[in-house]
Amino acid sequence: MTITDIRGHALSGANADAALAYSDAIRQFSVYAGDPVGAAESLIAAGPGFVMAHALKAWLYLLGTAPAALPVARAAIAAAEALPGTAQERGHLAALRHLAAGQWHLASRVIEDVALENPRDLLALIAGHQIDYFTGNGRMLKDRIARALPAWSKTTPGHHSMLGMHAFGLEENGLYGQAERQGRAALAAEAGDGWARHAVAHVLEMQGRHDDGIAFMREDLASWTTDSFLAVHNWWHLALYHLELGQIDEVLELVDGPITSVAAPQMMDLIDASAMLWRLHLRGVDVGQRWQLLARQYEAGWSAGGYAFNDFHAMMAFVGAGRRDLAEQTLETQSIALLAASDNADFTQQVGYPLMQALKAFGEGRYGDAVRLIRPVRAIAARFGGSNAQRDIIDLTLIEAALRAGERSLAKALAAERVMAKHDSPLAKLFARRAGLSSCGDQAGCDGLTCGIAAA
Ligand SMILES: [Fe+2]
Repeated sequence: MTITDIRGHALSGANADAALAYSDAIRQFSVYAGDPVGAAESLIAAGPGFVMAHALKAWLYLLGTAPAALPVARAAIAAAEALPGTAQERGHLAALRHLAAGQWHLASRVIEDVALENPRDLLALIAGHQIDYFTGNGRMLKDRIARALPAWSKTTPGHHSMLGMHAFGLEENGLYGQAERQGRAALAAEAGDGWARHAVAHVLEMQGRHDDGIAFMREDLASWTTDSFLAVHNWWHLALYHLELGQIDEVLELVDGPITSVAAPQMMDLIDASAMLWRLHLRGVDVGQRWQLLARQYEAGWSAGGYAFNDFHAMMAFVGAGRRDLAEQTLETQSIALLAASDNADFTQQVGYPLMQALKAFGEGRYGDAVRLIRPVRAIAARFGGSNAQRDIIDLTLIEAALRAGERSLAKALAAERVMAKHDSPLAKLFARRAGLSSCGDQAGCDGLTCGIAAA
């Protein structure tokens, strides 16, 4: 009898109990909660011939983007490759092999093909969705999921995960209404779906609905904080709303609490800490010793040259902490990364390296240099991955650098962009006032009296 997962895909080397446990591990991954890595390792220990248990382990390690994970993932791939497997399973292993070699785009294409043949292969879709995020492939964030959705129904196990991923893809493409509907439908089906919660959080961020965002995140804390490995990032989103509203005490409370109090922070947790401290730094808030602590955490668990988006965030910590040694070392390592035959060489050359130089320039008070380094990159910055909300830090750094460099025309233009995108944002209005923008034009909602810009 062929053993299958919960959605009907054959699982080589599994027995019925292992298949059920595997399906549950995928469920954990789909809601970003529990311990899917531990589950995969238990499955391998109980049955080393279970191909997809090895594949799941390799996906989880590689998608964590920590340099130390690479050898572990490679060993898991090699173990699975020695086993007989189906075409679907071999597709996973081929994609993993590309990803372990730093070929993000090839991995994306191969796992795309797996999902074309098997549109209910939730692991292939989640892994592909994550690669789309890491490569800034906005279109595929939406369409990889959209094209598979007709093969799903509300009764297909994990349907909420499809809705949550589709919601995030729609949001990254500016389709906020559809995104919010899909995200909220996912949460209605599974309140603990951390990715769906995250997708709606992004919609509220991008639409400048910061009070709504605070209410949305605080309404059901338990559903997205309990046992979730996306919790820090979702706390970060809550802090973003408070920051936008100028509620610095609340931001610092979240920074000192759930954002940095993780016992063993993962790479994405360090990124969130960097991204929030840098935003505070840009606003002139003295974050004190927090930079030093973060720089030491990077020193302990990170090495440069693996993924430019991570390196960019590490650089914030080194500049913030005044660690010139680590900042210089990081830039030097980028030169080596540029020579590697991996997609990260492109991420680094096109986006990461100039942005890291810009951070250093900003930290040294060379604001004009920071402006010149950021301007050619900001429109193509998606190429090194992340979300629109995360990459907003590039715009925030640029506008602050322009203001401090006295580049008034540019500062005014950037402030105008921001006000048009988020008319009611206190932060946008603050930039507008600082840049000397006296009017936001005749846009809907701007009466010049209540928006605070024309009166400034
Ligand atoms: Fe996010």
